[in-house]
Amino acid sequence: MAHTIVVVGASGDLTSRKLVPALYSLHRKDRLPSDLRIVGMSRSPFTHEAWRAKLAESTARFVGEGFDESAWERLASSIYYQQGDITRPEDVAALGAFLDRLEGEGGATRVYYLATGPQFYEPAVRHLGAAGMAHQENGPRRVVIEKPFGTDRASSRRLNEAVHAVFAESQVFRIDHYLGKETVNNILVLRFANTIFEPVWNRNYVEHVQITAAEEVTVEHRAAFYETADVLRDMFQNHLMQLLTLTAMEAPSRFEAEAVRDEKVKVLRAMRPTDPEEVAASTLRGQYRSYRDEPNVDPASRTATFGAVRLYIDNWRWQGVPFYLRSGKAMSCRTTQIVIQFRQPPHVMFGPELQTARESNRLVIQIQPAEGIQLHFQTKVPDQGMRTRLTALDFNFQRAFADEMPEAYQRLLLDAMHGDASLFARSDEVELSWGIIDPIQTVWETSRRPELELYEAGAWGPPVSTQWMRRQERQWFDACPILH
Ligand code: BG6
Repeated sequence: MAHTIVVVGASGDLTSRKLVPALYSLHRKDRLPSDLRIVGMSRSPFTHEAWRAKLAESTARFVGEGFDESAWERLASSIYYQQGDITRPEDVAALGAFLDRLEGEGGATRVYYLATGPQFYEPAVRHLGAAGMAHQENGPRRVVIEKPFGTDRASSRRLNEAVHAVFAESQVFRIDHYLGKETVNNILVLRFANTIFEPVWNRNYVEHVQITAAEEVTVEHRAAFYETADVLRDMFQNHLMQLLTLTAMEAPSRFEAEAVRDEKVKVLRAMRPTDPEEVAASTLRGQYRSYRDEPNVDPASRTATFGAVRLYIDNWRWQGVPFYLRSGKAMSCRTTQIVIQFRQPPHVMFGPELQTARESNRLVIQIQPAEGIQLHFQTKVPDQGMRTRLTALDFNFQRAFADEMPEAYQRLLLDAMHGDASLFARSDEVELSWGIIDPIQTVWETSRRPELELYEAGAWGPPVSTQWMRRQERQWFDACPILH
């Protein structure tokens, strides 16, 4: 059956920066269905030709060196444009008529990709429903919804209700682009395609887990959005919680959407509810010093651009093991990493003076940009008696595989076309995840919140972050990855 991807909000940044370059790369690798059509819809007036020309320019820019004019021309011949406002029922009906004409008698698998602002998700879905465009007589109908999916648990539930009034859950694909990253998927492979990690992947051997998503960039041109979001809503509810569930979940019986998502949901259900009285002690808020000078930022803004949170999972595997989540803008370097910090050996016969530091084993899963895994362990320093030092076994994707790491959107777009929802967030998952963030966010908006600590751009967050860990007799793994 033919395929149609309908990008709603087509003139936006996401389309030109991510979606079309991803489709172009898939086309070059010959991974797209041969009978795919891409239809853009937005309010701006474009002819099909003008729209193709605009995308040719942006795709060449974002793809860079690998851009090939003739390959683009082949893809461009299947790109169309339909002007319209997704909030106007008559425009949505006109889109439907255009798609029907394009697809003809044979019908097509249709993916509606909502690349609009979040305020348009609900009307878009409602009008698609009213126009009969969710019915599946002429082929499967799917809707892809970008983040943010709500701003708290209540709004995500309302949005789920609005979506479910039109589409069955099996038709809904909620994007978290972290789930499209190869290294994020490799967490499942590392854990469940090997035998050596599973026996130690629990409270008996793991002392704590750190999940860090540090960014070197500032909020840049997104301050207007960021002022209403902050680091908790922007990074924790979605990306960091996804990394946490993949790290903590039990092995699904099959790599299938429901089996994988059931296990993730079990982790979220087992998370210890946050006690509002504890938030001041179990979380940190920071703001980089120049944030208030950014355009569109309130000069007295209290928005956190850095956050750290300690969470617990109350189940047999993880009881008592803290999971530290941290993220920030304007940090030392860009690095997303998961550190599994193992316990100290029960007894070290070599004596503390022979170790350079009281460091025990750790497994560092480098999500980006230095995609790889390091296992840190003590080694005998040559010719120095029994002195030991922490050394590393180092696996790096780029060294091990000649192929380039594809952009997350490539995998996600393909999966949505094929109807595989394993790497998309289910409705209960999103709501539960908000349920973990909400109580923290609520306290952060009251006077019981932790102090907003300023930090210099280029630091690992505010200095209290280091002290906070030290008080807990732990230490952040503050290492910028080495790019080969
Ligand atoms: C987005 C956030 O979801 O993820 C951004 O809104 C953030 O603030 C981005 O910069 C990070 O994505 P990546 O893939 O660069 O880690």
